[in-house]
Amino acid sequence: MRVGSLLSIAASVFLSSVLFASSSGAGVAEGKKAFQVKKCAACHQIEGPAREKTIQDQLARKGPELWYAGSKFKPEFLKNWLANPKPIRPLEYNSLTKKNAGDHVRLAASEAADMAGYLMSLKSADVKEGAVQPKDNPKGRAIFIKKQACYGCHEVTVRGNTAGGLSGPTLTGASARLNPDWIYAYLVNPRVFKPVKDMPNYAGILNDQEMKDLAAYIGSLN
Ligand code: HEC
Ligand code: HEC
Repeated sequence: MRVGSLLSIAASVFLSSVLFASSSGAGVAEGKKAFQVKKCAACHQIEGPAREKTIQDQLARKGPELWYAGSKFKPEFLKNWLANPKPIRPLEYNSLTKKNAGDHVRLAASEAADMAGYLMSLKSADVKEGAVQPKDNPKGRAIFIKKQACYGCHEVTVRGNTAGGLSGPTLTGASARLNPDWIYAYLVNPRVFKPVKDMPNYAGILNDQEMKDLAAYIGSLN
């Protein structure tokens, strides 16, 4: 093959990747395909919202629903976690459990980046971007630790000490993992996101400002 035609192939590959990246975001199509090939949907819902799903539909899956992943997670967290999964939910339901730590499908770094790109494209219309800024505020902390029993079900790490209940997902590292806008939307209307509700519904118990303070506090946890 002559140098000229090699160059034109290289140029068209370059052009199409530039066009692709600008139209749908890096890795989205590759990630979507890998999601099917690797049968991720056997364990994860990627269609929502939850209110249109039955409880049976969610109970049939082993993993947490991912249809709103792009509104819930930070992209860097997804990329790193998919290449190196670690338990988040300490109890058995919807969890890898400590017993089976590391049991989750592990992706190579480039596959993990594509998959994170795809998952970040799955947004929920119920999450308003920019509603909450992460902030370690005393009001949010007081509600979390004392006023409500959040701490009784969720682990947090304060000054190097990890403590708290185990029935909910750990919130240690939430600042790197969760989008505070999603935390707020979830507290306001959990049933949009979860067809099965193991976590108490705080609508009518906490007011709007208290939910924002909590979301800001959780969004600041290391
Ligand atoms: C056999 C069932 C199973 C399969 C197959 C599976 N997962 Fe999971 N996945 C789980 C479980 C269980 C968890 C929860 C882990 C935890 O919280 O400790 C999880 C967690 C996740 C999380 C983190 C969610 C969170 O809340 O932080 C992502 C992202 C994810 N899976 C993506 C994928 C992708 C992408 C694939 C396909 C390559 C896949 N999973 C295949 C069971 C599965
Ligand atoms: C009785 C136990 C319990 C209490 C009390 C509780 N939670 Fe939860 N929480 C859960 C469970 C279980 C989940 C996982 C979702 C589910 O299965 O419903 C969850 C999920 C969450 C999530 C999403 C985490 C993720 O990674 O998906 C956040 C954020 C959260 N809770 C915050 C709070 C806050 C804030 C409070 C207090 C106002 C609180 N929780 C009180 C059990 C609890």
